[in-house]
Amino acid sequence: MQKDQAKKRLKLIKKELNAWAKAYFDEDKLIFEEQVRDQLKKELIEIESQFPDLITSDSPSQKIGGQLENTKFAKVQHLTAKKSLQDYFSFEELDNFLKKITEFSKQDFEPVFIEPKLDGLNITIWYKKGIMQKALTRGNGKVGEDVTHNIQTIKNLPQKLQQAVDLEVTGEVYITKADFDKINQNSEVQYANPRNLASGSVRQIESQVAASRNLQISFYALGQNNLDQAPKTQMQLMKFFESQKLPFNKEYKLVKSKAQMHSYIDKLTTKKDSFSMQIDGAVIKVNDFKLWPRMGYTAKTPRFAAAYKFPAEKVVTKVHAITIQVGRLGTLTPVAELEPVLVAGSTVSRATLHNASEVARKDVRVGDTVVIHKAGDIIPEVVEVLKKLRTAAQKKFQMPNNCPVCHSKVVTKDDQKQTRCLNQKCPAILIGALSHFVSKAGMNIDGFAEQNLLTLLEYEKIQTPADLYKLQAADLENLPLFQAKKIQKTLDSIAKSKTVKLSNFLNALSIPLLGQQMAFHLAQYIEQKIYTTKKQAKQISLTELLPYLDSLSTESLLDLDGFGSNLAESVVLWFQDPENQAWLQDLATHSITVTLAPTPSTQAKLAAKKILFTGSLQHLTRTQAKELALQHGASLSSSVSKNLDLLVVGLKPGSKLKKAQELGVTVLSEEQFLDLISYKV
Ligand code: IVH
Repeated sequence: MQKDQAKKRLKLIKKELNAWAKAYFDEDKLIFEEQVRDQLKKELIEIESQFPDLITSDSPSQKIGGQLENTKFAKVQHLTAKKSLQDYFSFEELDNFLKKITEFSKQDFEPVFIEPKLDGLNITIWYKKGIMQKALTRGNGKVGEDVTHNIQTIKNLPQKLQQAVDLEVTGEVYITKADFDKINQNSEVQYANPRNLASGSVRQIESQVAASRNLQISFYALGQNNLDQAPKTQMQLMKFFESQKLPFNKEYKLVKSKAQMHSYIDKLTTKKDSFSMQIDGAVIKVNDFKLWPRMGYTAKTPRFAAAYKFPAEKVVTKVHAITIQVGRLGTLTPVAELEPVLVAGSTVSRATLHNASEVARKDVRVGDTVVIHKAGDIIPEVVEVLKKLRTAAQKKFQMPNNCPVCHSKVVTKDDQKQTRCLNQKCPAILIGALSHFVSKAGMNIDGFAEQNLLTLLEYEKIQTPADLYKLQAADLENLPLFQAKKIQKTLDSIAKSKTVKLSNFLNALSIPLLGQQMAFHLAQYIEQKIYTTKKQAKQISLTELLPYLDSLSTESLLDLDGFGSNLAESVVLWFQDPENQAWLQDLATHSITVTLAPTPSTQAKLAAKKILFTGSLQHLTRTQAKELALQHGASLSSSVSKNLDLLVVGLKPGSKLKKAQELGVTVLSEEQFLDLISYKV
């Protein structure tokens, strides 16, 4: 980055971060998410370390917490300065932190204490002769606000200790996630998150509000004290807290190696959603207090402790370009090409912008700084544009008038929500449909990567999916990307694919709106029809199947689970389209055999049960799990509702689990599901 560019960018980021801190610390408002703040701050520090002469005293890298400008509370000087923690975002950075500690202590490994980083607000309490005296916010680190009247209402805070000692103890005040939901449901104002609500409650003039909010406190640090035998380690401090009935978080661990540290942090990361309160990372501290004063502090943070922040689910990055993708159904989708970033554990360099109307609504422009996340934990998506970080250079996005692949005019419908290339010969559409046709969830033919299909199209060896079955060795010889060995393998794979499950066959056809799940339902329906005339049939030729497909009617499809009128119509129209009929007839001449799923009996284990899978399964793929459920008589649901009978959860289940629990839907683990259908992995 050039210096003048750096200067401009710093100015914008500083303004945003200062506005964020003022709103967050002084007004309990959240103008954008904490994770976004973390990343902007990281960028600021990176730029400042590259150009140290650009660091100013008003830089957020130089300040702790709020400004205490307009506080409504008495300002009280802290007994010991309240430092912040250095944030780390990767194991690599943490390893480096550990290396510095071991270098300092000259041990092979200096034991460190790890505990969850609670996402609440920092409060320091003074006890005098064992009696609670004062409660202060962190404020600017040196001076805090006196919020004793509110903190006194916290039920798990002892007003009196077990010993008549003087203590300065620090901890986090928070509201549990369950209490937060309850309060938000019954309140007209919506609070952004539990931290925000806790902070707002603590900073009320009247104590009734705090008293009604079921605030909790959890301690983690000891300051000044007159103990005869003060704890010498963080582990001993936990014992001391216990002896005084001071609440603390029990999910701590003393680790004695780097590997142990990694695995404990991994464990906290996987468990984080099951904590009753919000946690946003782990705090790592040198266990032995002797080392603390010797290691000392930087301007803002201790050298003996640090925070590891969980992988961000929302990440800040820049849009380099907006490109247009043409899908197998001809839909033009604008895609943001991004500066690659880690989001929830994997690198993301592209994010769908869905359609022109979405781009306009979010006003995403090339050169913008954006926040991205993974929708449903999988699909990268732009959440918002940080418009205040814009310079004058960003221009509004315009959807092209012509298909970027075949250059024919595109058609835009539905208030800019859909732009399509209607040229059925457009290579993008052909390639997309062919790739889908050969995919695992379709006909499952190996050897046709997109490049191979492109070659076949270019050399005019194929035009429709049916043409794949006409290919002979002689057609492939001498083509680029098809060596002798590959040719044989490909032809074998084509031959093998001539026997295909009905649901895969239907999915392979690229019928608009018909996804894999709905193809399952459609297959089940057609199978039932076949069974009425051919009892217990295990397979049927494509020639025999075609009349069943031709005779599908919109009204009967509407009865299927998950079928709305758009989907039902789309399916019926597709099978009535003469072009589709022609290539299906053609395909039928290649002795394609369609296998049918056995009819589940009414006695089947999951007969008439509506089932849904969520989270990542460990023993089965999603497709296998769904097929097993269907074989055992279940029908598949796509969302959680009161009508759902079973929710099977894998790792990281997300919001579906919560909703199912609220609605009282039976929840099974993957193992319980497998047990239920007596399936051995
Ligand atoms: S120790 C000198 N332990 O995180 C070390 N802090 O980003 C003092 N926090 O100001 C802090 N959980 O408000 C410590 N287990 C924990 C914590 C924790 C949350 C907060 C605390 C601190 C901030 C620093």
